Amino acid sequence: MKKLYIKTYGCQMNFYDSNKISDLLKKTGYALTENSNEADLVVLNTCHIRDKAVEKTYSDLGRIKKNFENTQNKKPIIAVAGCVAQAQGQEIMRRSPWVDIVVGPQSYTALPQLISQVKKLEKKELVNLDFPTIPKFDLLDHNLIEKKVSAFLTIQEGCDKFCSFCVVPYTRGPEFSRSIESILDELKHLIDKGAKEVILLGQNVNAWRYECPNGKKWSFANLIEKIAEFDQILSIRYTTSHPLDMDMDLLKSHKNVEKLMPYLHLPVQSGSNNILKKMNRKHTVNDYIKIIDKARKYRPDIAISSDFIVGFPGETEKDHKATLKLIDEIKFSSSYSFKYSSRPGTPSAALFDQVDESLKKERLSEIQSLLKKHQIKFNENKLNCNLKVLISEKNSKNQLVGKSPYNQTVIINERDKLKIEKSCSIKQKDKLFIGKMKNVNIINAYQNSLEGVFLDNFLES
Ligand code: 5AD
Ligand code: SF4
Repeated sequence: MKKLYIKTYGCQMNFYDSNKISDLLKKTGYALTENSNEADLVVLNTCHIRDKAVEKTYSDLGRIKKNFENTQNKKPIIAVAGCVAQAQGQEIMRRSPWVDIVVGPQSYTALPQLISQVKKLEKKELVNLDFPTIPKFDLLDHNLIEKKVSAFLTIQEGCDKFCSFCVVPYTRGPEFSRSIESILDELKHLIDKGAKEVILLGQNVNAWRYECPNGKKWSFANLIEKIAEFDQILSIRYTTSHPLDMDMDLLKSHKNVEKLMPYLHLPVQSGSNNILKKMNRKHTVNDYIKIIDKARKYRPDIAISSDFIVGFPGETEKDHKATLKLIDEIKFSSSYSFKYSSRPGTPSAALFDQVDESLKKERLSEIQSLLKKHQIKFNENKLNCNLKVLISEKNSKNQLVGKSPYNQTVIINERDKLKIEKSCSIKQKDKLFIGKMKNVNIINAYQNSLEGVFLDNFLES
């Protein structure tokens, strides 16, 4: 069997796409390998959001080249997929002429055909950056989905918001909502493969809406209600949302739909109105606070997380302090924070008052230590609490791993202390836990995880 090495950079949507790419290629006779040196086909599914991610792609391409040159291994077919491919196209082959195929995030279903063209030496440079009229979702074969307790399901792609720092509207195109039929079809396949949790994905996931040919209109809140009707699904999450699309019905779902987890990832980017305006975020700090207040009104224990950009052009000490103030006010449960990275072609790249790199570094470290303080506090607040934890896997240390309703990783060590009949095989024991929602008592809290013990008499469950 031919071997496929696939590396994914960036967001969860890229991980979803990589799964689909590997499903597609398995069908044409490839088996996955974790070792790029032995691969017949290398796919890099890339991210263009910050300069660092792009440079990582090029350094990996260099490493791959060195490897097949030094070892005199046969050169693998090399394909660059994802957002760098969409943004740079042919330029990738100019910088790295050993790349055979460049394929965008909407056109990777063409990969099997492009690979066979490379093999037949039909064309030297194969670039496909189309936005096809038939959405890629309708071309995917969901029968190939792998068994997973917690499954990603992309329901929306693209962005119409045009934040001034961001490449997404250019790489992923305009907002597109997948049809309800296509979403439910994939959901049923995921359920057949044992999914108990579904994580709905989209660059602007809460912008999802759909009108059926018969005129029936679906809101994102309606979609969540519909998914909750499936008995096998125990947990629903979604990411990433934009404040502008955060409507009342969705906020109320956090109260009304028990399976919708009390966790909201809602990027604010900055705590300064001045910077938000320059970022073209189309919301103020106060708008953001109002949304969080409402979310907490409907679901008082909801965990809030965010993204922050530090050192946007023109950011003053006062702006930076305003972000620190907002962090103290909201008390985020976790967050991602990044130094501003100037992206070619975006409006903010043309601003002349770029912030000095060392100042960005300083501010980032200040923001990250404050975020860390709140994250630890949030986790410590769960000490001695009994939480429902969906157990998804066993890690290399033989511990069971799951997620709390608040998106915290929960590690359970105590399994061996429980009285399990000796005749039970390891596999049978695992079946008692994995894919089950268990009552867990939290005995330790760290920055990035919690430790717990089972409360249930699991032999009866
Ligand atoms: N520089 C730094 N961070 C960025 N993000 C998007 N574009 C940039 C950029 N040019 C961050 C935002 C977004 C997250 C996915 O990546 O915080 O929410
Ligand atoms: Fe980028 Fe803004 Fe769109 Fe998010 S909302 S993908 S940050 S342009």
